[in-house]
Amino acid sequence: MAILSALWSWLPHALLFTLCVFFVAFLGYCLYIKHLHLKYDHIPGPPRKSFLFGHSPIFLEIMKNDGVIHDKIHEWAEMYGPVIRMNLLHYVLIGVYSPEATKEVLMSSKYPKDKFLYKRLFNLFDQRFLGNGLVTARNHEQWYKQRRIMDPAFSSLYLRGLMGTFNERAEKLMDKLSEEAENNTVANMLHLVNCVTMDVIAHVAFGVDLDLLRKSSPFPKAVETCLKGMIYYVRDATFQYKPQNWKYVNEVREACRLLRSTGAQWINERKTDIQNGEDVPKDILTQIIKSAQQEEVMTKEDEEFMLDNFVTFFIAGQETTANQLAFCIMELGRHPDILEKAKKEVDEVIGMKREISYDDLGNLTYLSQVLKESLRLYPTIVGTSRSLEKDIVIEGIHIPAGATLMFSTYVACRMEKFFKDPMKFDPDRFHPDAPKPYYCYYPFSLGPRSCLGKKFAQMEAKVVMAKLLQRFDFNLVPGQSFDVRDTGTLRPKGGVLCTVRHRN
Ligand code: HEM
Repeated sequence: MAILSALWSWLPHALLFTLCVFFVAFLGYCLYIKHLHLKYDHIPGPPRKSFLFGHSPIFLEIMKNDGVIHDKIHEWAEMYGPVIRMNLLHYVLIGVYSPEATKEVLMSSKYPKDKFLYKRLFNLFDQRFLGNGLVTARNHEQWYKQRRIMDPAFSSLYLRGLMGTFNERAEKLMDKLSEEAENNTVANMLHLVNCVTMDVIAHVAFGVDLDLLRKSSPFPKAVETCLKGMIYYVRDATFQYKPQNWKYVNEVREACRLLRSTGAQWINERKTDIQNGEDVPKDILTQIIKSAQQEEVMTKEDEEFMLDNFVTFFIAGQETTANQLAFCIMELGRHPDILEKAKKEVDEVIGMKREISYDDLGNLTYLSQVLKESLRLYPTIVGTSRSLEKDIVIEGIHIPAGATLMFSTYVACRMEKFFKDPMKFDPDRFHPDAPKPYYCYYPFSLGPRSCLGKKFAQMEAKVVMAKLLQRFDFNLVPGQSFDVRDTGTLRPKGGVLCTVRHRN
């Protein structure tokens, strides 16, 4: 009883003490924020919405209304560029829209991928997500070792051998579209191309047949949920602590676990095949196993590392290409003259042939221009970012170390100073005789950390588009949205709804 009453009498003191500690910590944090403002406020930028949260309330408001924050950043870049400062709590983000600085930073391995984004993507709401996989690895040595091991699965020779798969999976889409044409139903092109690219990556990278155009599967939804969860996780530090979000946060964790447990299952099956001396393909899965199997005994961390790369390829190797295809179909639907020109080229190069060859792809130059222009206006990954570990001067502005440099091909490609009439969809910008854009167009990023799957993606996209143009006429269903939705990657909001007819 005496103990209880002593405790009771101490309670107000303990409470007061905790409050004091909290207050001092908060004051210290505010002073640190003030120090950052003094250090970086000479860099032009829009006014902050709040002392503490900086510009983040503006971004959160846009996200709440299903908008695209990159449009706001574009507006600021035009107003305050070529270098703009944004504050999110104690993070200082510097948007860079200077070709020279883009070249200097992205082409060099001196600037590591930034902590703020890539370290955060190790987990997703406390569930391991991309870990130390190829996209998120920040340590140069660790990254380089993985990249060297993965390279053979993306060599020109190996990719040529994938033409059969690209053709075969694209044919399944043509069968599906034939049914849509015969039944006069509306085709959701985003959904259909998503099924194809996921089928391709599962088959080519992991040797698994999903056949998503015929069979239902939890994977497309899981990938979408992870990507959407990713933007909340990265852009709103308080998201997971709000009770109204807990259900959603659990769904994201569950989606993430599904991808990782699937990876574990497929990796184990492949390992058993290897142990049994079976002839296994030299595909991405084999390379993933190799990249972790440097030592005799595999640790728990090695196992997790393999899953990091499994999820990395499952996501990086599929969504981006599907969204590019969907945007491309959307713009062709909106520009009948460009569509006709692309069809004419396909007729001349491919004719009635079913099997498109690697050499045919090289001859589809106008289609290449159309695909490049699609990525100019709609880069499915908007950009990349780097940590600044030493001071730098960009366009005469001194930027002290400690900030994050953000490079956005989305913003640069919409700036009048780099592309005349930037919002016009014009594939002739990429005509072989036209001047090449100078470090302002980089949908696959640039330099050592540029996309490993660029060639893979563009071969796959061309095969799908060429077959579509060869076989079908399509029209966009009136009244749908042509806006962009930001779900971590960019995708067409309306899904690109089309009616399709067989060509004569
Ligand atoms: C249109 C399709 C694609 C686009 C627009 C695209 C874009 C990009 C971009 C911008 C990056 C840099 C990311 C960053 O800095 O954070 C990247 C990296 C990467 N992409 Fe792609 N990608 C596409 C397709 C693919 C495909 C099909 C694969 C694999 C099959 C792939 C695998 C990778 C990998 C492994 C990396 C990390 C490279 C490294 O850091 O060494 N991508 N991609």
